[in-house]
Amino acid sequence: MKDRQAGMDAVHSGDRVLEGVSRPKVPPIYASSVFSFDSLSDLDSVFDHEKPGYIYARMGHPNASLLEETMSALEGTDSALVFSSGMAAITTAFLTALRPGDQVIADRVLYGGSFSFLDGFLRDWGVSVELVDTLDHDQVREALCPKTRVIYLETISNPLMGVADLPVLAEIAASAGAMLFVDNTFASPAICRPSSMGAHVVIHSLTKYINGHSDVTGGALAGSGEFVAEASRLRSMMGGSMSPFDAWLVQRGIRTLHLRMAAHSANALQIARTLERHPLVERVEYPGLERHPSYGTARKVLEGGFGGMLSFEIRGGERAAARFVDGLRLVELVPSLASISTTISHPAKTSHRSLSEVQRRESGISDGLIRLSAGIEPVEAVLEDLLQALDGISGE
Ligand SMILES: Cc1ncc(COP(=O)(O)O)c(C=O)c1O
Repeated sequence: MKDRQAGMDAVHSGDRVLEGVSRPKVPPIYASSVFSFDSLSDLDSVFDHEKPGYIYARMGHPNASLLEETMSALEGTDSALVFSSGMAAITTAFLTALRPGDQVIADRVLYGGSFSFLDGFLRDWGVSVELVDTLDHDQVREALCPKTRVIYLETISNPLMGVADLPVLAEIAASAGAMLFVDNTFASPAICRPSSMGAHVVIHSLTKYINGHSDVTGGALAGSGEFVAEASRLRSMMGGSMSPFDAWLVQRGIRTLHLRMAAHSANALQIARTLERHPLVERVEYPGLERHPSYGTARKVLEGGFGGMLSFEIRGGERAAARFVDGLRLVELVPSLASISTTISHPAKTSHRSLSEVQRRESGISDGLIRLSAGIEPVEAVLEDLLQALDGISGE
């Protein structure tokens, strides 16, 4: 009897939700994979969306809902959906919108994973994919056809930092009855809200600025209620849902997004201006530099900063780039971006590794190109490190 009681106490321990007149200042983490019901009719009413509630965490849970509310508020859309990664959000968005036989027009310069999905999976699935330079609107107009369903691009392109003229591209999409999908990862809603300029679906790798601390992998899409409901059915089926703890962490990161983006942008601008003047630097890609081809568009579509991402090419190609990386003491080589500390990456060897040499050349991604993600630390320390690493090359 004693053993039976101990067993009952252990199995049913701590499974009450405690109530009181006070409430937690911060939402709890609902680490429950499933939810209990008092009756079959309650179960039916939640399944049929007649009463609020949750059923099974893959289909939705309170931490995901809170983050989804935040994302749709930040992006100014009816609704949003969060995922276990940015790629889960991107692939679900396309699979929601497309059927074999449809056509997608996409920018040639995209995150490598998105490029491979479009150029590989979607083509194999029977979707026609036209890769163009979306900064050249005539190329987009010429690629339109009766089967065009989606025009796809990144607000600030990875890794060349071209800025898309969203109002013009939204107009072109509307003229063809197509949807404009925008990956807003590099800008974040703190400096750009594509839906206010006509984008239908806005996509994020939450792994980057939105979370901002390199401790979560996640994704989101934001759009109309109808599109999000359809994407939600696919997410439940394919299983790319976000865990409660990850959603909670992203929610915590978001609370400082605006402050972080202002600091990332200010540091990036100073780093870009310093590198631009250095004799060993051949070119700097940053839309906040007056001579950058996207400067005019950036002033039109970005607000409150030009973002924290820049890329540059050191004279001497890949060998010089490798020597520069070896010489860094503070700035780390990290194949991601958007953390609070300054990091660098080498697109040809990381984010764009899956592209062939020809595809990289066509996209303008050279072997000497270095991508820098400006952090929020005092910029002087970062500049000192970059300059001493450049000095190291010239001294050899
Ligand atoms: C612009 C952009 N979109 C999407 C992704 C994919 O996001 P995730 O790595 O969270 O799947 C990345 C990843 O680097 C990215 O840079």
